Amino acid sequence: MRAAKDYIIFALDVASMDEARRYVGLLANHVGLFKVGLELFIRCGPQIVEFINSTGTAGVFLDLKLHDIPATVSRAMAAVSELGVQFATVHCGETSKMLEAAVAGSRGRVRILGVTVLTSVCAEDIRAAGYRPEFCTDLSALVLKRAQMACTAGCTGVVCSGLEAVKIKQQLGSGFITVTPGIRPLWAAGKKDDQQRIATPAGAVKSGSDYLVIGRPIRDAADPRAAARRVAEEIEAVI
Ligand code: C5P
Repeated sequence: MRAAKDYIIFALDVASMDEARRYVGLLANHVGLFKVGLELFIRCGPQIVEFINSTGTAGVFLDLKLHDIPATVSRAMAAVSELGVQFATVHCGETSKMLEAAVAGSRGRVRILGVTVLTSVCAEDIRAAGYRPEFCTDLSALVLKRAQMACTAGCTGVVCSGLEAVKIKQQLGSGFITVTPGIRPLWAAGKKDDQQRIATPAGAVKSGSDYLVIGRPIRDAADPRAAARRVAEEIEAVI
C-alpha cells in the first residue's frame, strides 16, 4: 500500500534555486513528488530536475502544460523525456492529435497527464469563453469529455479537481490516474485566491484522486514541514 505522503505533490512555486533547495531539504521525506512549474523551470532549467533527482527521495512532476501544434508538442515532450521526470503535462483543450503527439514524444519514458479544465476556472468562466450551454451548466461534463480524449490518446491520466475525480474513475477505470490541484485543507482556509474548484485533502482522496498538488497551504505555512505532515495525517485517515 502507498504511504500517505506519496499522495502529496508539492508545487515548488518559488523564484530561485536557493529557495527551491530550501523547500526540497525541508520536505523531501514528507512528500511523494515535487512539481516544477513554469516559474521555476524558466528560472533554473533542467538543473532543478537534476538537483531534485540527486536527493534520491521524491520524484519530479514537470508541469509545463504544453499547448502547441502536434509537431512542436511531440518534439518538446521528446526533450522532456530525457530529463528523468516521472510525470509531464499537456493541455486537453485542443485536439486529440496534440495529446497523441505528447504521448508519442514521451517514448514511454515519462507518464503524460492531460490538463482537463484548470481548477482556477468556474462554470461562469466557461460561459464567458463561449462554450456550449451544457458545459456551462455542468462543467464536469467538459472535464469528462477531455478526460476521455486523454485516455483514448494514451495519456496515463489527467489533472482535474476533486469534484470530478469520482466520475472520471467511474467512466475510465481505477487505473486511469487522477491528479488534483486546488487542495485547501480546512485549517489552511484563509483569504480567497485564484483556485475555484477546491477540495480538502481527505475529500479529494475519498473521491478517488491518486495525487494531490499542494502549493500555498504548505509553502506559506509558518512551518511547511508540519503542514505537510498534517496533510499526510488527513490522507492517512481515509486510505
Ligand atoms: O495549492 P496551490 O493553489 O498554491 O497550487 C498551485 C499550483 O497548482 C500551481 O503550481 C499551479 O500550476 C498548479 N495547478 C495545476 N493545475 C490546475 C491548477 C493549478 O497544476 N488545474
